Amino acid sequence: MNKVLIIGCGHMGSALLTAWQKLKLYKFTVVDPFNYKLIEKKFRSKKVTVKKSIQDLKNTSDYDLMVIAVTPQVIKSVLKEYKSFKLKKNAVIVSIVAGKKIDFFKKNLVYAYQVIRVMPNMPSLIEKGMSCLVGNKYVSKKNKIKTTNLFSKVGKTLWLSNENQLDMATAVSGSGPGYVFTILDALEKAAINVGFSKKVANILVLETILGSIFLKLKSNKSSKELANLIAIKGGTTEAGIKVMKKNKIYSIFSQSIKAAYNRASFLGKNHK
Ligand SMILES: NC(=O)c1ccc[n+]([C@@H]2O[C@H](COP(=O)([O-])OP(=O)(O)OC[C@H]3O[C@@H](n4cnc5c(N)ncnc54)[C@H](OP(=O)(O)O)[C@@H]3O)[C@@H](O)[C@H]2O)c1
Repeated sequence: MNKVLIIGCGHMGSALLTAWQKLKLYKFTVVDPFNYKLIEKKFRSKKVTVKKSIQDLKNTSDYDLMVIAVTPQVIKSVLKEYKSFKLKKNAVIVSIVAGKKIDFFKKNLVYAYQVIRVMPNMPSLIEKGMSCLVGNKYVSKKNKIKTTNLFSKVGKTLWLSNENQLDMATAVSGSGPGYVFTILDALEKAAINVGFSKKVANILVLETILGSIFLKLKSNKSSKELANLIAIKGGTTEAGIKVMKKNKIYSIFSQSIKAAYNRASFLGKNHK
């Protein structure tokens, strides 16, 4: 049996636990001082125990994984509470806290030896997430497998080779759902502008995006080739894409992802 301690159970912590509680070989203890009553109501079972504070934990050296899911704003004070904690000898610390480097955990917790950082994304809420992972050189194969098992429950997983790549992934897949919802919103507003009701605009845009994604998944053509297939010379799609290109859509996305990447790097460097 793998014993997992989850510190912080807000949006992402509960999304993870919702999926994880179905796993056979895992047991979970959650610590969340403010929302423990709600969390207990939602999750309490043979597999999940909920505690108000670290003082309520009995045998602390019993955990195989410590998952940290609090916000970057409180992480430093939270780690102070866990300073004199004792984990199992081969335990791994798994952080999903955006921007906090492996070094940060090593500096703030003397017992942090094996550390993995994960960047999940919002669709993990419905088990359609994309989680990117990176670990330090001390992480054992067993702990890599355990952590992969956990995050595979909420979607796809991909191990990266260094923390810079995790900042890059933060800008692409971590923030990505935000870009997609912005694109959906822009398309819906554009459909309303040509005369559709909000309801119809919503259906047309959503089904078009869903259908295109499914087609892309089934096709071996690149996205550009698929776009060219529809953009017949002199046709309507070509007219629409011409305006997108004239307004530098490729440059806009490139700049957006660069801005998010720069921000992720900055947060990692400046919040020790
Ligand atoms: N949400 C996403 O899509 C997403 C994606 C990738 C990564 N992340 C990362 O995941 C982390 C959590 O994000 P979130 O959206 O789940 O935030 P959240 O909803 O605010 O959850 C954080 C939880 O931690 C609790 N908490 C505060 N102090 C604590 C303490 N001392 N001990 C234990 N728990 C404590 C909070 O309680 P209160 O609310 O009462 O303070 C809250 O329930 C963040 O670091 C974020 O960067 C989130």
